[in-house]
Amino acid sequence: TAGAVTLPMGWRLIAHDAVDSTNAVARALITKGAAEEGTVVWAREQTGGRGRQGRVWHSPPGNLYHSYVLRPDVPLAEAARLSFGAALAVAEALEALCPIADPRCKWPNDIVCHGGKVAGMLMETVSAASGPPWLVLGIGVNLKTAPITGALFPALAMEDLGCPVGLEDLLSGIAQRLAYWLAKWRQDGFAPVRAAWLERALGVGKPVEVRLGPHRTQRGIFQGLDEAGCLVLAEEDGMVRLISAGDVFFPPQ
Ligand code: BTN
Repeated sequence: TAGAVTLPMGWRLIAHDAVDSTNAVARALITKGAAEEGTVVWAREQTGGRGRQGRVWHSPPGNLYHSYVLRPDVPLAEAARLSFGAALAVAEALEALCPIADPRCKWPNDIVCHGGKVAGMLMETVSAASGPPWLVLGIGVNLKTAPITGALFPALAMEDLGCPVGLEDLLSGIAQRLAYWLAKWRQDGFAPVRAAWLERALGVGKPVEVRLGPHRTQRGIFQGLDEAGCLVLAEEDGMVRLISAGDVFFPPQ
């Protein structure tokens, strides 16, 4: 129902009006020993929202900002693949609330609707004195407003698409789908996650540009994901390159 958050069994919501970053709050809880798998930190506003690659994440009231504390019993390198399941969870939850949005996945973990970035995620790890590391999976979704992004990939809010989405409904939907993909990944591994992600992905089989840094761009055909979640890029000279971090752009054809 509107106005209420429903979480999977055993998960717990910690709601704030304003924090610096829900990822930072989740990390602090882990460090204090006050977080468990399934702790969800939600804030209506962030004063220091963080994006990938050291960027700032535009965080005024009206959009969704939340972070999940997870602790899958796998090595760090494998945990990163879960972010593809999380991207699927966001896309599926948005689609359920607004089918015309047609949410697509953009490598590595963005959600794009009608050519604009609607959601992004930031996965961070916190190592433990013993046992597997903790994961903090922060997800931001532009519902009311999107930033002006200049030369970067354009951003878009769900309201720009004529989709008024409730914060509580979306949070509940993402959590439910995330629990589904988490269970699927634990049971069947990365293969089903990768297959579902590729089905929703933008640009597979097409030319893409991957910006690796301010002065380094690779061009090629986006062939898919490898076992680790790296982007597989076939270059013109026949070389196949695996890219683990960068920003993807789709050149006009
Ligand atoms: C990106 O696309 O660059 C990732 C954006 C991640 C934003 C979310 S909002 C909730 C959580 N808290 C943060 O400070 N960042 C993430």
